[in-house]
Amino acid sequence: MNDFLWQEADSQDFIDYGRYFVPQREYQLQTIADLIPPPNGPAHILELSCGEGLLAEVLLHRFATITLHGYDLSPAMLQQAKARLVPFGERFVPRRFNLAETEWRTAVPTFHAVVSSLTIHHLDGPGKQQLFHDLFAMLLPGGTLVIADLVAPTRELGTAVAANAWDEAVRQRSQQLAGSEDVLARFEQLKWNLYRYPEEPDIAIDKPSGLLDQLKWVEQAGFTAVDVHWALAGHVLYSGVKV
Ligand SMILES: C[S@@+](CC[C@H](N)C(=O)[O-])C[C@H]1O[C@@H](n2cnc3c(N)ncnc32)[C@H](O)[C@@H]1O
Repeated sequence: MNDFLWQEADSQDFIDYGRYFVPQREYQLQTIADLIPPPNGPAHILELSCGEGLLAEVLLHRFATITLHGYDLSPAMLQQAKARLVPFGERFVPRRFNLAETEWRTAVPTFHAVVSSLTIHHLDGPGKQQLFHDLFAMLLPGGTLVIADLVAPTRELGTAVAANAWDEAVRQRSQQLAGSEDVLARFEQLKWNLYRYPEEPDIAIDKPSGLLDQLKWVEQAGFTAVDVHWALAGHVLYSGVKV
């Protein structure tokens, strides 16, 4: 079992700075939605670790007939998500869960899609493999899995490229959104760039796996049409389909 260390202080940092720290945030969210076929009639979508509900909001806007099940560990995150998604009424169903546990997983195919942003890397390799296997069982035939996450570069130079690119992405977001580079300083102070600070004790909560491994594990779980749609600064967006 994975040992999770995510704290409410991490939630607050992400609520405060997520829009600066995540490269091409809006593009990622819209692209996840683009990869889900519009459902014919009522359908259920599961979001693993929905955070403050930004992706849920995009999906609820995009697909008028869905119910979005937003799971997260953090009460603070779930509170933010509930407040943000009040306009969608009962179409947003929040639930507290631990990604590493199995009690929330079901063998009953229920979901039109399962999505997740910046969360799977909290599981180690075997944890990810088991998760992909279990998610396959939870999806209806034709269902889609879409994951946006951090991946582990395969060599030192790749790690340096990811570290530099992430700093640069945060510098640009900081300039664009705040008109200064103050948030880059905060990013640095928090040592959030795990490619720059792989030895940080806090980084123990981050267990990114190599991209190729993850694609193989998704395929081994039974998914087809496994594909990568976007990558920048160690962040990757990929998907698979249950036929
Ligand atoms: C970096 S944030 C990403 C939030 C959201 N998915 C987004 O992209 O905005 C990581 C999220 O994972 C959640 N999380 C961390 N550990 C978790 C665990 N063991 N089980 C479930 N969720 C967890 C946190 O509460 C947080 O909402």
